[in-house]
Amino acid sequence: EETDTGFASTYWSYFLDGMLVTIMISAIGVLVGMVLGFILSLMRLTQNKLLRFLGSAYVEFVRGTPLMIQVMFIYFGAGVFFDLPALTAGIIAVSLNSGAYICEIIRSGLNSVDSGQAEAARSLGMSKRQSMRYILFPQALKNIWPALGNEFITVIKESSIVSVIGVGELIFQTRVVRSISFKGILPLFITMLVYFFLTFTLTKILNYFEGRMNHD
Ligand code: ARG
Repeated sequence: EETDTGFASTYWSYFLDGMLVTIMISAIGVLVGMVLGFILSLMRLTQNKLLRFLGSAYVEFVRGTPLMIQVMFIYFGAGVFFDLPALTAGIIAVSLNSGAYICEIIRSGLNSVDSGQAEAARSLGMSKRQSMRYILFPQALKNIWPALGNEFITVIKESSIVSVIGVGELIFQTRVVRSISFKGILPLFITMLVYFFLTFTLTKILNYFEGRMNHD
C-alpha cells in the first residue's frame, strides 16, 4: 500500500511543472494585457470615431464571449495556416482576453478622477495630453493598481481554461496525476492548495505595495 509520502515523492514534479506553467501564462498574459489595455483605453478616449468604435467593439466582443472558445479559436484557427504551439496559443489568448478587461480597468480608473481636476489642469493652460499625463493618470493609478492586482488573481485562476488545448498548466497536470495515480481526490486537494498559495501570496504582495502607495 502506497503512503501519502509515496504519493508526494512520486508526483510532486507534475504539480511543480503545472504551477510554473500557470505562473508563466498568467504573468505574461497580464503584462501583455496591460500594454494592450492601455492602447485600447487610449483608442476609446480619442476624438477619432473609427478608433473609438474599434476599441469598444474589441472590448465588448472579448468580454462577451467565453475565454474557452477564444483559446480554442486561436489554437485551431492558427493551426489551419501554420503550426502554433499550444502554449503560445494559450498565452496569446489569455493576453488578448485580459487586454479587454484591463482597458476597462484603466478607463474606469480615469473616470473616477473628479472632473474638476481636468478642468483645473486645462485652465492652468495644460494641453489635453499634459493634463492626462501629469494630472489625471497619476491620480487614476490609485484605483487602477488594486484593480490590476485583482485581474492578475482572476487570470491565475481563469488561465486553467487553456488546459482544453492540452497546455500542461496546473489543472492539466492534475488530470494527469489523477489518471496515473488512481487517486481521485488527493490531487484535487493539492491543486486547490497550490492555487490558494499563489493567489494569497499575490494578495499579500499587492497589499504591501498598496499600503506604501497610500503613504505618500
Ligand atoms: N470566465 C470568464 C470567461 O470565460 C473569465 C474571462 C477572464 N477574465 C478576465 N478578467 N481576464 O469569459
